[in-house]
Amino acid sequence: MEPDSQSARVPSEAPPDVPNDRRYAAHLERNRRVWDRWSDWYGMSERDFEPIREATIDRLELEEGDRVLDVGCGPGVNFEHIRHKIGTEGRLAGVDYSPGMVENARERVDRHGWANVEVRRADATTVDFDERFDAAVATLSLGVMPDARRTLENVRRLLVPGGPLALVDVRPAPSGPVRLLNPVIWRFFRWYANWNPDNDVLESGRAVFEECELVETAVAGTAYAAVCRTAGPRDAE
Ligand SMILES: C[S@@+](CC[C@H](N)C(=O)[O-])C[C@H]1O[C@@H](n2cnc3c(N)ncnc32)[C@H](O)[C@@H]1O
Repeated sequence: MEPDSQSARVPSEAPPDVPNDRRYAAHLERNRRVWDRWSDWYGMSERDFEPIREATIDRLELEEGDRVLDVGCGPGVNFEHIRHKIGTEGRLAGVDYSPGMVENARERVDRHGWANVEVRRADATTVDFDERFDAAVATLSLGVMPDARRTLENVRRLLVPGGPLALVDVRPAPSGPVRLLNPVIWRFFRWYANWNPDNDVLESGRAVFEECELVETAVAGTAYAAVCRTAGPRDAE
């Protein structure tokens, strides 16, 4: 995949300002309501996307001791898989905006006794950490963000140079007869998940990272996985 170096932005090291934008604020608030509502029912769909989520995380080639950021972690559906790879010496930070999701994610952490997993309630677009991460994952979360491009800029800022991001998301069918169903699919996504039609996650990934490669598609192309990265020391390893 050709990197879009023309539009690749290098975000500043300073944490981003909270967007002063009514549309942004309204979408974020609706995310809180929608995802709080689903937080106690999410277990029903947790397994549906497990194969593509785990296969994409495997592409990060995580190692023992790595520090990983899980963006829009929900109730912590990726934690066990990531924790298995980074071991007790690594560090995992999950960020989610919904208090209900955060509560469930923390319950999961407590239940397993994972001392090296932190869950923070925050907007992933503006969240800051004292340290930088070796890798990040964002599964089914960027498409619902108020502004996926800004979120991706923040994720890039929080990664060490060369640190990869694995993303899984959904989109309207890109080709074939299923495209006829796109208006219905889109309306369903918006109702069910507060999906944001202004986000083009893959395009934003290509604009923000030097490289963003589509690695898998499923369900007539409506589900997809990509791995994005900036140039950096990890390339040389
Ligand atoms: C479809 S769920 C995905 C959960 C999980 N990552 C998965 O793979 O199943 C989307 C999650 O993104 C979270 N979210 C939405 N907007 C957010 C934001 N601005 N900052 C952090 N999390 C956000 C929601 O609260 C919700 O838990």
